[in-house]
Amino acid sequence: MNVLITGASGQLGSEVASISSLYPTMNFFFATSKIVDICNFNELESYVLQNNIDSIINCAAYTQVDKAEEEFDAAEKVNSVGVANLVKVLKNRNGKLIHISTDYVFDGKNYIPYKESDLTNPLGVYGRTKLKGEEIIIDSDINAIIIRTSWLYSEFGNNFVKTMLRLGGERETLGVIADQVGTPTNAKDLAYTCLEILSNYDQLNKKGSIYHYSNEGAASWYDFATAIMEFSKTDCNVLPIETKDYQTLAERPPYSILNKSNIKSDFDVSILNWRASLKKCIKKIEKK
Ligand SMILES: NC(=O)c1ccc[n+]([C@@H]2O[C@H](COP(=O)([O-])OP(=O)(O)OC[C@H]3O[C@@H](n4cnc5c(N)ncnc54)[C@H](OP(=O)(O)O)[C@@H]3O)[C@@H](O)[C@H]2O)c1
Repeated sequence: MNVLITGASGQLGSEVASISSLYPTMNFFFATSKIVDICNFNELESYVLQNNIDSIINCAAYTQVDKAEEEFDAAEKVNSVGVANLVKVLKNRNGKLIHISTDYVFDGKNYIPYKESDLTNPLGVYGRTKLKGEEIIIDSDINAIIIRTSWLYSEFGNNFVKTMLRLGGERETLGVIADQVGTPTNAKDLAYTCLEILSNYDQLNKKGSIYHYSNEGAASWYDFATAIMEFSKTDCNVLPIETKDYQTLAERPPYSILNKSNIKSDFDVSILNWRASLKKCIKKIEKK
């Protein structure tokens, strides 16, 4: 299996690289945006043909939720047009796609965990462009699995964990939003899930199926920050604040917990609790 990892220098792409040696039957091609720009169809197609790629894990995305409000075209280009290019190139080769989407396709009005079949209603540009990417894949009828995930962090790249560790070291107190609830997800766990699914893909015969995946449990950003300080033994007092007191360009769903029953039953994946997985990630960061 010749597997292209797009967006290879991002959090998820880097995590896939870190565990790739555990999957010796897969021949990996890690492409940063400089090597393969998914928005450039010719560049993508010639890379795929040259390397005889038959599967793609799309880790490339425009992920800046607030900036997207001011840069609709840039977000749309990567999250929708780029996805259409991946679909086109795979359709020509009958290839497989694992694509990552987001909990931000929902408006957060639920009070029980979101199922894949629940109504989407993104609140911002990022979520709308990611939803359009999903729709392009579903409409194409290619061999594809879309995994919606939430609140990704990693030992690689920039993320909430790294920001909290930095701010926690600089400040005595920190106000963090307590009225948005979701599930932090270690990108390494998601990377394993993507590779397990791809390894078993041929027995599944899935066309455009959506699955939800995050770590187990629920947290507010305040809970998440408090756990980061606890596990890193950082002496910083985290205070709960309300969304209305922390203005951002993009509105976020107040509730975005994902129901993971389908991915657990169809793929036999066991999922770590978010606190246990966070602890592991902080240990990795501390060793660096
Ligand atoms: N981060 C989260 O909290 C979160 C939550 C839910 C879902 N997700 C989804 O999970 C997936 C992985 O996210 P992540 O956190 O790993 O993202 P990330 O760290 O921001 O990485 C995204 C990568 O995509 C690359 N990229 C951007 N435009 C590209 C293009 N035109 N062609 C090729 N590569 C391009 C970027 O490269 P450059 O840096 O060179 O531009 C970057 O390496 C994404 O689909 C995201 O929407 C993320």
